[in-house]
Amino acid sequence: MVKKEASSIAEKPTFSIDTNIQIPVFPEIDKEKINIRYPLIAPYAYAHIFWDNENKELVYFVEEPVLNQEQKRILEILEDGIKELINISFISVKSQEAVIEYLEKNLRVLLDELRIELSRESYLKIMYYIYRDFVGFNDIEPLLNDYFIEDIECNGVNYPIYVVHRRYRNMRTNIIYTDIEELTSFVEKLAQKAGQYISYANPLLDAALPDGSRLNASFTSDVSSRGPAFTIRKFTKVPWTPTKLIQMRTATPQIFAYLWLLIEYGMNIMVIGGTGSGKTTLLNALTFFIPPQARIVSIEDTRELALEHENWLPSVAREGVGLANLVGQKYGEVSLFDLLKESFRQNPDYVIVGEVRGKEAYVLFQGMSAGHASFGTMHANSVDTMIRRLQTPPISLSASLVEAMDVVLVMAHGKIKGEEARRIREVDEIVKVEENGNFKVNIPFVWDPTKDVYRFNSESYAFNKIIIRTGISLQDLRREFEIRTQLLINLYNNGIFDPKSLRAAVNEYYKDPIAIIRKLKLIKS
Ligand SMILES: Nc1ncnc2c1ncn2[C@@H]1O[C@H](COP(=O)(O)OP(=O)(O)OP(=O)(O)O)[C@@H](O)[C@H]1O
Ligand SMILES: [Mg+2]
Repeated sequence: MVKKEASSIAEKPTFSIDTNIQIPVFPEIDKEKINIRYPLIAPYAYAHIFWDNENKELVYFVEEPVLNQEQKRILEILEDGIKELINISFISVKSQEAVIEYLEKNLRVLLDELRIELSRESYLKIMYYIYRDFVGFNDIEPLLNDYFIEDIECNGVNYPIYVVHRRYRNMRTNIIYTDIEELTSFVEKLAQKAGQYISYANPLLDAALPDGSRLNASFTSDVSSRGPAFTIRKFTKVPWTPTKLIQMRTATPQIFAYLWLLIEYGMNIMVIGGTGSGKTTLLNALTFFIPPQARIVSIEDTRELALEHENWLPSVAREGVGLANLVGQKYGEVSLFDLLKESFRQNPDYVIVGEVRGKEAYVLFQGMSAGHASFGTMHANSVDTMIRRLQTPPISLSASLVEAMDVVLVMAHGKIKGEEARRIREVDEIVKVEENGNFKVNIPFVWDPTKDVYRFNSESYAFNKIIIRTGISLQDLRREFEIRTQLLINLYNNGIFDPKSLRAAVNEYYKDPIAIIRKLKLIKS
């Protein structure tokens, strides 16, 4: 469509946000040399991460359009006017485009009424702030748009807001509330968006924002102090399903069919790989195969997992405050170890640990050997490294506990024909682990990087375990494996990639496999 140059901004909506922004790639360089800028609300707000040489720390600055005195004054007048004109509930239900159109329409009325003339540039800048404050979450709106931010923390007035970044962890921002009243009304707005309220009589709030992020807020009774505080633990990810990962060529339908069977029969699975290799994404995809009625408990440091499962109890570890006591714990701290111990008491069918790093491994592997199907990720590039790490301090598991792990999936991250690619490089079935660190694995699937295909070795040690434990015949198990491979191909061919539909398809198969086999003509019997 050819756009006619608008003679005046009053004629048609001109403000828009580019929703198609590229996810940045972070270079592997020394912290002191970092100087990265990437769009958050394009083309208006950017993140600027750089080394602050004076304070010797990496900082996160939000860069937004700069308004001059005159523009600031007009923005204030317009914001007051808009508050009178618009219907806030309209804003919360409509699509972004519809809301922008609605805001612009009202703004035009106001500009006319007040006889304010703006250049196109001033108009767009001002409109950005109106959009940010009326549709979004004011000053922190850009932060909420940063895919890499996990947590946003505000500890009161005159303290900068801190963020936890996926890649660079804790950083100070340039956002700072200096006015208690402004901060108070902002926290009230947060509470309201979460469908709750907060006051001095009801000073603590723990709620979910519309996108699923967790909001914690508090009003201190001492009004002269720092004022209200809040933390937002961001959560916006739509999980990737097995079919989506088939589309990304991360694994084949056959590998997922195999994993589906292993999961149904309660095998223990660990996903390993380097940083950012896609471990958590794969772990999350595997949860789609958990039977619908099973009770699942998940434990994480930061909330990343998103399960389409009714009987799921997620928990997140919490850092404490102050100095550590004699056993190394801080006040209020809830570690992965504590959570895991507690969760086994709830007698779950499946336990998922986001990332295994330290002493919680002991509890996890004990749980595995006691028969709770468990999944987790661990940072290690090969089974070798992983087993060594599990057997040596500080983890120091016995060989028999390490052996409780049935299968290890090794994720690889690299380039194929110049394209970024993530693959399951190898599926390793643990056959035997000895105290001296020797071990034996069987490898049913291995990826051939030169051709980007998988080789399948039809002997599966895990299938043998299933046969011994359940009495199912090898023939039946192989048939089931074949049917599920075909089912996944069918779902993939029909474009069933979204979490809800895939979960529904898997549930349907669990409920009435014969009906599905007939309906989709999955196998000639
Ligand atoms: N199979 C895949 N194909 C393409 N991109 C992927 C795949 N899996 C994950 N990603 C992308 O890679 C990034 C890292 O993924 P993920 O968090 O799963 O990795 P990880 O190994 O768990 O990382 P970490 O080491 O930080 O825990 C994310 O941006 C995700 O969207
Ligand atoms: Mg991870």
